[in-house]
Amino acid sequence: MSKKKTAVIVLAAGLGTRMKSDLPKVMHPLGGRPMINHLLATLAKIQCDNTVVVVGPDMADLEAAVSPHTTAVQYDRAGTGDAVKVGVQALTKANGGDFKGNVLIVYGDTPLISEQTLNGMLEARAGQPGKVPPSIVVLGFQPLDPGAYGRLVVDEDEGDLLAIVEANDATPEQLDINLCNSGVMCFDASLLPQFLSRLSNDNANQEEYLTDCVGIACEDGFACAVVEGDEDELIGVNSRVDLAQAEVIFQDFMREKTMKGGATLQDPSTVYFSFDTKIGKDVVIEPNVQFGPGVTLSNHVTVKGFSHLEGAHIHPGATVGPFARLRPGTSIGQEAKVGNFVEIKNTDVKEGAKISHLSYIGDAEVGTEANIGAGTITCNYDGFMKHKTIIGECAFIGSNTALIAPVKVGDGAIVGAGSTIAFDVEANAIVTTRAPHKTGQDAAISYRARKRAEKEKLNKG
Ligand code: UD1
Ligand code: CA
Repeated sequence: MSKKKTAVIVLAAGLGTRMKSDLPKVMHPLGGRPMINHLLATLAKIQCDNTVVVVGPDMADLEAAVSPHTTAVQYDRAGTGDAVKVGVQALTKANGGDFKGNVLIVYGDTPLISEQTLNGMLEARAGQPGKVPPSIVVLGFQPLDPGAYGRLVVDEDEGDLLAIVEANDATPEQLDINLCNSGVMCFDASLLPQFLSRLSNDNANQEEYLTDCVGIACEDGFACAVVEGDEDELIGVNSRVDLAQAEVIFQDFMREKTMKGGATLQDPSTVYFSFDTKIGKDVVIEPNVQFGPGVTLSNHVTVKGFSHLEGAHIHPGATVGPFARLRPGTSIGQEAKVGNFVEIKNTDVKEGAKISHLSYIGDAEVGTEANIGAGTITCNYDGFMKHKTIIGECAFIGSNTALIAPVKVGDGAIVGAGSTIAFDVEANAIVTTRAPHKTGQDAAISYRARKRAEKEKLNKG
């Protein structure tokens, strides 16, 4: 790999008008994380010395999302060439007026590129021993539909790159070229300023195209090269349709990674991951499960169908679902069981506890081996503040119990079904708060006779 210094300029100033959104394009999420942060996470894995993100004016959210990287503002969105000029200025300033080595340009709307592909670009930039290295290396790819991508014009004999022609400016013959520009380019830092100084906006979009640098370099006698990459990594997101395609690619990548890691997905295409979902071995995930951010599944966990998990840690051997909802701050202990139509939030469910059906458990602790009956509700909110419910080890909460927080149920205590518990229950106590039992012997017979007579009288009248 190249020993040269490498700086990266990330272009993210575009408004993304084709997204029809108030959000800057690169802030749209894939797998729950803004596109730009996918790219920055990959860049963090390659060896680079400086990163500058070129942003537009009034993009405070974007600046916050890319922090602590240096940002440079492109006030007039005059094209990708102009954006790189803004980036180069910031780089030069950051390096005391001089930067030598490589300048790698990446586009914020091309978020799925891999570390290996970027390293391949740097290797190509370093060139072959005994040969003059290419002044620019462009990452090309052959998409199924070349559409609006720039076309790469290559010398048929030598394979050198001669020019990039934008689709809007291309001749019908050039539009037939299948090899396209991904937008990723690596420049010799000492030549980049002179190429940029010669850009014009004499084209269909009246913008300064960074891509024109290739033709300029060739005119000046500097060689340019192409490295080919994979379409799945290089999709450029310009519209919501592209965004949905990128999401499919990302989800397929996560599904494959999860299965390769030793988990069974019974119907992979119906399971949706977050960028940070962590899944152990011998995990089984049934169909139609969705992971929001911050979920960890340990080994031997089963998540049954139609469950939704977010901000939850599931310990080994636990079972969740079907139709369970786990919300942030939830921990499910080893071998614990959470069954159908159970919602849990900000709760520590300890080892072996069971919450098998139809419950809401929020802001609580559920002790080891405790059993929570169907229809148990922790009433954690008094309209102003949230309060905690603590349920002890091996406690038994009967069905249809309301636990009015703050409240504690001691270890081994039993709460009878249908209770409303607004006071602490001592360890090993049995508590019920049901209304007293009343039986009317044969009362149903006289009740029905009375009602029938009333109805007949009404009908006659
Ligand atoms: C660009 C390339 C095209 C390539 C395609 C790959 C140019 C002229 N064309 O086209 O050859 O096939 O990407 O996806 O480069 N940006 C700025 N400031 C600007 C304009 C754009 O920062 O003034 C940023 C955008 O935020 C975006 C990136 O540059 O992240 C690319 O801009 P975009 O307008 O999407 O270019 P494409 O038309 O897709
Ligand atoms: Ca684009």
